[in-house]
Amino acid sequence: MCGIVGYIGTQPAQSILVSGLEKLEYRGYDSAGVATIVEGNLDCIRAKGKLHNLRDKIEFATNRAPIGIGHTRWATHGKPEEYNAHPHTDTQRRLAVVQNGIIENYRELREELKKQGHEFRSETDTEVIPHLICQCFADGADTLMVAVQQAVHKLSGAFAIAVISADYPDELVLARQQAPLVIGIGEGEYFCASDTPAIVQYTRTILPLENGEMARLTRDGVEVYTFAGEKVNRTPRTITWNPIAVEKQGFRHFMAKEIYEQPAVVRTCLEAYLDLDWTPASSKSPFKLDLPESIYKDLENIQIVACGTSLHAGMVGKYLIEELAQIPTAIQYASEFRYSPPPLVPNTLTIGITQSGETADTLAAVEIEKSRRQNKDPKYHSRLLAVTNRTDSAITRVVDCVIDTHAGMEIGVAATKTFMGQLMAFYFLSLDLAHRRGTITPARLSEIITGLKVLPSQIEVILETQEKYIEELSHSFLDTHDAIFLGRGINFPIALEGALKLKEISYIHAEGYPSGEMKHGPIALLDAKVPVIAITMPGKVYEKAISNAQEAKARDSHLYGVVAASDKDATEIFDKVLPVPDVDELLSPVLTVIPMQLMSYHIAAMRGLDVDQPRNLAKSVTVE
Ligand code: M6R
Repeated sequence: MCGIVGYIGTQPAQSILVSGLEKLEYRGYDSAGVATIVEGNLDCIRAKGKLHNLRDKIEFATNRAPIGIGHTRWATHGKPEEYNAHPHTDTQRRLAVVQNGIIENYRELREELKKQGHEFRSETDTEVIPHLICQCFADGADTLMVAVQQAVHKLSGAFAIAVISADYPDELVLARQQAPLVIGIGEGEYFCASDTPAIVQYTRTILPLENGEMARLTRDGVEVYTFAGEKVNRTPRTITWNPIAVEKQGFRHFMAKEIYEQPAVVRTCLEAYLDLDWTPASSKSPFKLDLPESIYKDLENIQIVACGTSLHAGMVGKYLIEELAQIPTAIQYASEFRYSPPPLVPNTLTIGITQSGETADTLAAVEIEKSRRQNKDPKYHSRLLAVTNRTDSAITRVVDCVIDTHAGMEIGVAATKTFMGQLMAFYFLSLDLAHRRGTITPARLSEIITGLKVLPSQIEVILETQEKYIEELSHSFLDTHDAIFLGRGINFPIALEGALKLKEISYIHAEGYPSGEMKHGPIALLDAKVPVIAITMPGKVYEKAISNAQEAKARDSHLYGVVAASDKDATEIFDKVLPVPDVDELLSPVLTVIPMQLMSYHIAAMRGLDVDQPRNLAKSVTVE
């Protein structure tokens, strides 16, 4: 949440900062601002709302200052108004600070600083930082680096900050504690950003700051220190991915492009994790997950922690692991787990799922699991696995091993292709576990592997045959205020995911229920104005799911069915059918989620909403 950028070099900073902020807008878009140093003074420009409002206020031709910082905000403390936009300054407007995170002790600091004569102009937690740095100078700090260092010792919470000062016009100071911050190294110019896409068009040489580290960027180079002031030697690395991946490539929205990239995500995962030449006669494992043996040894329990869409992928994962590998698997919201973790049980694998790798709750849950299992009997030692789309992210530095979801950069706030990558991770993990433990027959394994291989072309069939139809259907949701999604078994999480997608981008109230639960209360909500979208795929709960859908129809609900293409009875049961190719029930979530994504996308687009940047949301949730 919130994106920060910084630049020091020889080029005009403002355009570099704004172009960096464009790439970070997915992290928040309540307001934006930039500060530069012009002829010994700070020039700070801020605007409420999306970045284009800031862009309209900047006169790029007149300010050629070669140093500056910028920010795009997701409001935590204080309304999304211009006076709360970053950068924030000290009373004399000599220092400017941008921050991503939350300063938890800002109230005490603010009261203390007010007593010392500092004048506050915003409702934010961040504003204490420039005043605090200013106070550190008043108390004797003799360089910007020292003043910032003294200030960060007084801050508690998770934060990444960038600081410039009109009195130190040739340096940019950074500090990182539990929020991402990466430095970009050019020739005679240096960058910083919350995420690499903001700087990749200028340099591919990067240096991520670690927790508890600070950096001083000048035109001569980068110095990294710990908060305690010890110098740190770090070797930069080169990133290889292509910036074209973050363009829309002819699609109207990133979300549409990302929905269409899902066959490729599945193909990439198949190539990465499956020996495509494997046959049941082979004595070798078909899987190439490359996890350490310590993950598997005497494994008795699995627990999964995640948030939002990642949690839904984990729910499918629990189903797969229990069904295929027969390992009891618990799943919990990471935000609940971190404050009420279950009692410790031995030989447990903990899986944190997060596409961004930086969701604060998921990160905290995994860290808690790591620390509470230290110094215990070896069978209680932690085994930590991250399923993530960002192999350079914070969670990867906490866990023992990672499964990369290989989805490529996802920009749309609504997760689609990363969910697909997460599902793939769980297919391969659960099958790998089942194969090792002998809980699956070679014939069944071969059957599922064959099914996995045809999934990309089956997704393509849905995209080719259903999209226009779903676009037309979306018009019937013009006046919809509430919708219900139903699924059973392995498709219950897909009902939840369908409801989440609809809520977050079309602002229609939607709930997902296990079909069998409807009659225990939620059925009272149904009438002709509440459409019901039911997933009824052939398999062990088919008949039950059909009966539950009919119960909804009997209450006058307009009934949509996500059904198998071969289901000839479907048109009699449902008012509208959304057919997907016939598929093994175990693999069906990969297909049933596609109509859900297309529906929510087209309903939101038809309503003229901002599909990629829905209100109140951000792509990376780095605060609690
Ligand atoms: O980066 P993460 O996977 O940890 O993010 C978790 C949720 O914030 C995320 O899935 C959110 O629910 C999405 N907006 C869903 O589309």
